[in-house]
Amino acid sequence: MTEFATRVEDVSISGIREVFEAAGEDAINLGIGQPDFPTPGHARRAAIEAIESGQVDAYTSNKGIRQLREAIATKYDRDYGIEVDPENTMATSGGSEALHLALEAHVDPGQEVIFPDPGFVSYDALTRFAGGTPNPLSLREDLTLDPAAVEEAITDETAAFIVNSPSNPTGSVQSEADMREFARIADEHDVLCISDEVYEHIVFEGEHHSPLKFAETDNVIVVSACSKTYSMTGWRLGWLVGSGDRIDRMVRIHQYAQACASAPAQFAAEAALTGPQDPVDEMVAAFEERRDVVVDGLVDAGLEVPTPSGAFYAMPKVPEGWCEEVLDRGVVVVPGDAFGANGAGYARLSYATSMEDLKDALEIMDDATTAVQ
Ligand SMILES: Cc1ncc(COP(=O)(O)O)c(C=O)c1O
Repeated sequence: MTEFATRVEDVSISGIREVFEAAGEDAINLGIGQPDFPTPGHARRAAIEAIESGQVDAYTSNKGIRQLREAIATKYDRDYGIEVDPENTMATSGGSEALHLALEAHVDPGQEVIFPDPGFVSYDALTRFAGGTPNPLSLREDLTLDPAAVEEAITDETAAFIVNSPSNPTGSVQSEADMREFARIADEHDVLCISDEVYEHIVFEGEHHSPLKFAETDNVIVVSACSKTYSMTGWRLGWLVGSGDRIDRMVRIHQYAQACASAPAQFAAEAALTGPQDPVDEMVAAFEERRDVVVDGLVDAGLEVPTPSGAFYAMPKVPEGWCEEVLDRGVVVVPGDAFGANGAGYARLSYATSMEDLKDALEIMDDATTAVQ
């Protein structure tokens, strides 16, 4: 019988799925990694119009429709003053495919990829699929990634390091100084920096900075998506920004594996990027209000939690048995070790859920904390 490939056998289904499966039907779900808001109406309508006018019946160019790539390029200028050539962008099937392409195109078997631990679950799995060796790095006390630790971890075998700000699972945001350092490290060590910026607009304190702005070589690639910013996780539309050579290599894989990103989603994304941004502001304001309630509630329960400055996650330190106790009482949280060995002793809570549910969940978590202490 044909055996399964080692690279797939080496990777298991995300630990997040296991928690969902263990939860009762009426559980309050603080495990979800997507905004609880509708996709903006103008983005939906753009897709409908594109469908009805027959513009999406065929493949698009492999890199995506020109007007979307122009919208992506314009966005970097508008938001960060970064000049991007539309030729140096490509549309992908979500940020997930963009990460996959970045690693497949740059990692040779046996090469190392450095990423934050705790960090987004895909970094470890996609590194393995590319034949690479994961090199997870522990974080600072405030749950940010220390550029000095990255620099120290780089060896001749390092193909890339991944930076993720705002971060899933910690909600931490890297400072401008850190981003300048990441760019310098990528330049000086001639190592690729993959900057995962899918939460770029969900920032409460300070601002998002991209290492792309500070790099002097083409060693920074940006991954982003409509998924979180515009509550479009189901549309599957992300993108990559990188030098022409790097995009060319990533398109080679995308062309054979995907052909092009979904055409209706490309039209919706163009409208989301170029249309009014008020829905994003409203969503971010709601997340910030919930963030404050969640952090206060966790601190009142006696838990230690760095105040997250972005995304929609909080990551408190929790006593032994806390996640199980909370789950038994009907609240789904994700144990920190689902995001890497250094996540043990933490839990990830998503506050992409209603204030009412959050308040109920905080009461339950308070009781659960007392029960396990
Ligand atoms: C840090 C991070 N990067 C990338 C992704 C993938 O996003 P998408 O839904 O666009 O594939 C996610 C989704 O949860 C994420 O949290």
